[in-house]
Amino acid sequence: MRLLVLGGTAFLGREVARAGLAAGHDVTCVARGESGAPADGARLVTADRSAPGLGGVEDERWDAVIDVARDPGQVARAVEALRGRVGHWGFVSTGNVYADHSVPGADESTPLLAPLESGGDEPDEYGGKKVACERSVLDGIGAERVLVARAGLLGGPGDTSGRTGWWPWRLAHPAVPGEVLVPDALGEPAQVLDARDLAAWLVRCGEAGTTGVVDAVGPTTTLGGVLAAAREASGSGARAVAADPAWLSEQGVGPWMGPRSLPLWLPFPEYAGFAARTGEAARALGLTTRPLVDTLLDVLRYEEERPADEPRRTGLEDDDERALLTAWHAR
Ligand SMILES: NC(=O)c1ccc[n+]([C@@H]2O[C@H](COP(=O)([O-])OP(=O)(O)OC[C@H]3O[C@@H](n4cnc5c(N)ncnc54)[C@H](OP(=O)(O)O)[C@@H]3O)[C@@H](O)[C@H]2O)c1
Repeated sequence: MRLLVLGGTAFLGREVARAGLAAGHDVTCVARGESGAPADGARLVTADRSAPGLGGVEDERWDAVIDVARDPGQVARAVEALRGRVGHWGFVSTGNVYADHSVPGADESTPLLAPLESGGDEPDEYGGKKVACERSVLDGIGAERVLVARAGLLGGPGDTSGRTGWWPWRLAHPAVPGEVLVPDALGEPAQVLDARDLAAWLVRCGEAGTTGVVDAVGPTTTLGGVLAAAREASGSGARAVAADPAWLSEQGVGPWMGPRSLPLWLPFPEYAGFAARTGEAARALGLTTRPLVDTLLDVLRYEEERPADEPRRTGLEDDDERALLTAWHAR
């Protein structure tokens, strides 16, 4: 199959290209080439999608297209340029398209945000833009040839956000010997989908012409479940020191991701269902997932191979965690 990846030089897109190559397909990626190199064996066509034109790939025929873009203009232009030349279109969307994240076990019937043609990276703006992207693809290509995969948290090697790498890495490298600071919220839901599993499934959907609009999420576990898998992956004997979430917030430690955060922690009632979507429809369409411990083992290797001077985008600095543990024990 001739597979066109719109993207392909960053985390998920690179895995999509790799999965296409592993399945024996002819893979072309379109990107500026700023985020990194594409997978070995893929052809890179450089183009800036903020302007019209796709570097000439719009003059070729494609059995399947997989697009990871976040910008509605980029998606609309690609649809316009390629419609009539493609068989199947896979669009990678996000669970942020939903207007409500409070209900665990929710499915694709959850109401969507209003579509946004432009905006920033804040969750609602990002989600609104993805709603507009989904509409462009569904209207322009036709639902009978489109798979929209609304991804939940993606993990594995190449996760530059640092979210899925944090817990195995921190357990393997505690700032205080034998202790790791965690939020006392270990029963909260968590879902991690290995980007390699999503990529392989997207390619299989392109091959089979699978269509639908579905949530692509990892199996539902808890933050405690992620920590247990991270402990197994890291072989760490460090004990979790569970600090009161309110106390952590008072210290300025944030949830989910970013500097001074404890990743994957979502202490807000309005996000109670964010990491607990059913994902049943995607599983029925063939999405399979590897054990979480395998993902965390591989992302730990990736974290350990990262340049030491590259700033970590998520978690706590060693000095900061040491001071926080001291303060928690002393309170
Ligand atoms: N990570 C998660 O947990 C998560 C969760 C839910 C959904 N998602 C979705 O999963 C997808 C992740 O994709 P990804 O990991 O491959 O990363 P990404 O950072 O979204 O990738 C963007 C890709 O598009 C290319 N690109 C960006 N601007 C461009 C432009 N102006 N012209 C041409 N190409 C451009 C980038 O390459 P160049 O910079 O080289 O041009 C890169 O290959 C996204 O759709 C995201 O919304 C992610």
